[in-house]
Amino acid sequence: ALSVRASYADVLVKTAKTVASPGRGILAMDESNATCGKRLASIGLENTEANRQAYRTLLVTAPGLGQYISGAILFEETLYQSTVDGKKIVDILVEQNIVPGIKVDKGLVPLAGSNNESWCQGLDGLASRSATYYQQGARFAKWRTVVSIPNGPSALAVKEAAWGLARYAAISQDNGLVPIVEPEILLDGEHSIDRTFEVAQQVWAEVFFYLAENNVLFEGILLKPSMVTPGAESKDKATPEKVADLTLTLLNRRIPPSVPGIMFLSGGQSEVEATLNLNAMNQAPNPWHVSFSYARALQNTCLKTWGGRPENVKAAQDALLLRAKSNSLAQLGKYTG
Ligand code: 13P
Repeated sequence: ALSVRASYADVLVKTAKTVASPGRGILAMDESNATCGKRLASIGLENTEANRQAYRTLLVTAPGLGQYISGAILFEETLYQSTVDGKKIVDILVEQNIVPGIKVDKGLVPLAGSNNESWCQGLDGLASRSATYYQQGARFAKWRTVVSIPNGPSALAVKEAAWGLARYAAISQDNGLVPIVEPEILLDGEHSIDRTFEVAQQVWAEVFFYLAENNVLFEGILLKPSMVTPGAESKDKATPEKVADLTLTLLNRRIPPSVPGIMFLSGGQSEVEATLNLNAMNQAPNPWHVSFSYARALQNTCLKTWGGRPENVKAAQDALLLRAKSNSLAQLGKYTG
């Protein structure tokens, strides 16, 4: 397996560097059909393949998107999908200079023996699926598992999350896909920012322990952490400076400088909050490329503006481009509002 991975080493390093290029980040548009259905329901649309296609066509055809977006994470359906005009979505992304990526995990299920916690499925058959996705044009992958602070996290849940991510990362690299390593520490809860920081330190220590044990090439991965913030139901709010300070301290303590890109998730933060926090983290040089891989914080206004009406497509694309540009500036530490 090591020799197979070595044959892809150059591709992996090149892909990771391209995604982690200055002033750009990732558009997460890989909502599962169930999650996409919730988003469509919020604007009164039915969860049909045609509606998902119309919405995703709108996203990928936003003019000039590639100036701010280096990679787009797709759900499997979209990897094989064409636009309403019959053009492959993957081809449009490549024309926009955006690297196509693919969500490869199979979602969360209850973790037996834990305190009501979850684990992430998807390792069975992952090698052959990854090889097929590569042939379809995907060059990076995403696997999202979660850790819950109110429910523990138990040592068992953290270990399972870290081990699953490491196995997935090794399998992705063997098949030419750069793995995005995403142990999402859920925002839900009343806990303090210090408690989030403590849990994040535990989680990332274990993730890197198992990544190393599984011979993962660190130069060919990307991370997708949660920012260190107070729980969503905490009465304390943290300033962008405080979030940036603790999040960067976490990265400095736990993440080797060989990792090329740290692409944060937005996790329910508002659009502007996610931009301000990212901007605060980029006020001083750091060893990585600290950037974004947002779904909701890029799409919320765009989706609402569209509302399923063809006449609103341009305004919705402008809303997407405004968030993309704002986060591009934040990646460079130059967002001024
Ligand atoms: P949010 O930015 O909406 O948290 O989604 C990012 C993502 O892809 C979570 O896996």
